[in-house]
Amino acid sequence: MKVIRTIVDLRTEIKHARSQDKNISLVPTMGYLHAGHAALVSAATKKSDFVCVSIFVNRLQFNSNKDFETYPKSEASDIEICKQAGAALVFIPSHEEMYALDPAIELSMPALSVNLCGPVRPGHFEGVLLIVARLFNLFQPDLAFFGKKDYQQYRIIERLVRDLNFPLEVVGCETVREPDGLAMSSRNANLKPEHREQAALIFRSFKILLKAFENGIVDPVELVEIAQDVIVSGPDNRVEYLQIVHPESLELLTVIEGPFVVAAAVFCGEVRLIDNVLIEV
Ligand code: PAJ
Repeated sequence: MKVIRTIVDLRTEIKHARSQDKNISLVPTMGYLHAGHAALVSAATKKSDFVCVSIFVNRLQFNSNKDFETYPKSEASDIEICKQAGAALVFIPSHEEMYALDPAIELSMPALSVNLCGPVRPGHFEGVLLIVARLFNLFQPDLAFFGKKDYQQYRIIERLVRDLNFPLEVVGCETVREPDGLAMSSRNANLKPEHREQAALIFRSFKILLKAFENGIVDPVELVEIAQDVIVSGPDNRVEYLQIVHPESLELLTVIEGPFVVAAAVFCGEVRLIDNVLIEV
């Protein structure tokens, strides 16, 4: 597995892989990799013969400098995880390499940013759109793998590909969870031990909401209240949002007539976690 740090070297490697008729896939990440990321890489190895992982903590998508600066890093173990999972190439550029010039272009997707993380993280999806569009241009992959744990991001990237005709397929992968249901996340490492158990209440709240729905409660307002009560039974949990949205338009649902997504952002102590489930009807 090759570790590449510059755009020039990356272009050479991609050209070489293409000349050998390889099918290229890309797994974009911000590092501090865990089993959720590894599952994306493994899924990619099943569909392509040249799996690339990018590791880049993208300053543009962070809302605060503190959050950016405290983002955990573990390059040596990241490289090992990529190797074990079957990647052929890992791209780890510096900030200067990626943003030698401050970008003059802006990308945004207002229609899919109205709800969920959109209003509470201004500028976040703009930063994600820009870096992912650049990564698509650099790698020119046939396939790109994203986790549904970041459901809104996954839908926004799917739409980016459609709107700008990137010649690639976006593959969405299921959320990998800890045994108690907590979605794996690089941010879990920042949870204080006393908050770890309370963090599991997020997924538990989704399960209880699903049970209530199966028992005939179909009013989204009531369902949201049920789930919120479960989460805040953890005294250090604070719900930033908990919403029931349409799986594609991400619009808030006032009545449930088909599949829906329940998504939440919760502060467990100081750590902000997001999670969601898709419920088929
Ligand atoms: P990051 O948070 O590192 O996540 C990289 C990819 O791993 C994303 O597609 C994310 O949805 C997926 N992922 C994270 N946790 C997961 C889990 N528990 N199960 C399955 N997949 C999981 O998302 C980003 O980085 C950035 O925004 C990025 C797309 C790289 C752009 O900077």
